[in-house]
Amino acid sequence: MENLDALREELLAAVGGADSLDALEELRVSALGRKGRVTELMKGLGGLDPDERRAAGQALNAVKTAVSDAIEARHAGLADAALDAALAADRVDITLPVRPEAEGRLHPISQTFDEIIAIFGEMGFSVAEGPDIEDDFHNFTALNIPPEHPARQMHDTFYLPEKDDGERMLLRTHTSPVQIRAMQSTEPPLRIIVPGRTYRCDSDMTHTPMFHQVEGLIVDETSHMGHLKGCLIEFCRAYFEVDDVPVRFRPSYFPFTEPSAEVDIGCSRAGGELKIGAGDDWLEILGCGMVHPKVLAACNVDPEKYQGFAFGMGIERIAMLKYGIPDLRTFFDADMRWLRHYGFVPLEVPTLLRGLTP
Ligand code: DAH
Repeated sequence: MENLDALREELLAAVGGADSLDALEELRVSALGRKGRVTELMKGLGGLDPDERRAAGQALNAVKTAVSDAIEARHAGLADAALDAALAADRVDITLPVRPEAEGRLHPISQTFDEIIAIFGEMGFSVAEGPDIEDDFHNFTALNIPPEHPARQMHDTFYLPEKDDGERMLLRTHTSPVQIRAMQSTEPPLRIIVPGRTYRCDSDMTHTPMFHQVEGLIVDETSHMGHLKGCLIEFCRAYFEVDDVPVRFRPSYFPFTEPSAEVDIGCSRAGGELKIGAGDDWLEILGCGMVHPKVLAACNVDPEKYQGFAFGMGIERIAMLKYGIPDLRTFFDADMRWLRHYGFVPLEVPTLLRGLTP
């Protein structure tokens, strides 16, 4: 049998020199594994005399124990060192200066769209879009505004030059034509909101030729005026972030809804300062109503079977009210100082859970 003292010293030295957990494992297998050097020697014991066998067995066992203890101790040391190294590599230098704040700002229109989408998204609405350049059918006729209808004059429409076939396209005067497109392309039930640009040939203190609206449309077999009221009251509370904001439905007229209403919210102007909430004044914020059966029929939706409600609101107006922006025209000035003041940090996405506004 080979010199066990020498073998032991050799193996212990190798354990001491193993500089990684992998190297140590390799060493363990080559010494104590099934075909390891110590194991092979153990197997050789069978051929010895009983006395010799006992003495050699004890000596071999002592080597085995010494080597396996040394491996265990080395393993613990290497594992600690590996953990320390991983932690050191993972270290965050908290003395580094904070990253400078992003300088860009979201325009209040974008922020308001995001807030509205967050609120109606939570109610199960999805976002639909349509073209800015529309035809007469979608912008007017299908919405129950026939050619001679007086509502057409009120829309101050921008027309494009006449086409060869005599048709004149136009810049949509409201987002309502997307109601028509949605019903034409999708079978009910439908539950959409439509954020977008709209255009009217009008420009003064309170009108700009381009402005923004959000349209809403629900079509199914059961939605009624009560649902419309609940939906819009909830919207007003969530959007203005005033839980008990008074909401009033005032009878009105739109060609595409019957009955129609306008929605006002309560406010006070005490001391010349506008405050949304209980007060002695009202502010109009949107139009709404039950979808007119003629509008359903124009989209080949059976008015005997389906019904629903729609609403539309001006974005600049409700953004001005919520954020105290006094002048409509500043929205379109592209003035960096204004944007720095009224704009929003882009990464703070509005949600109902974490809050609409930063
Ligand atoms: N389209 C209307 C406008 O531009 C707003 C509106 C009113 C939309 C009532 C609707 C509605 O969907 O039901 O003045």
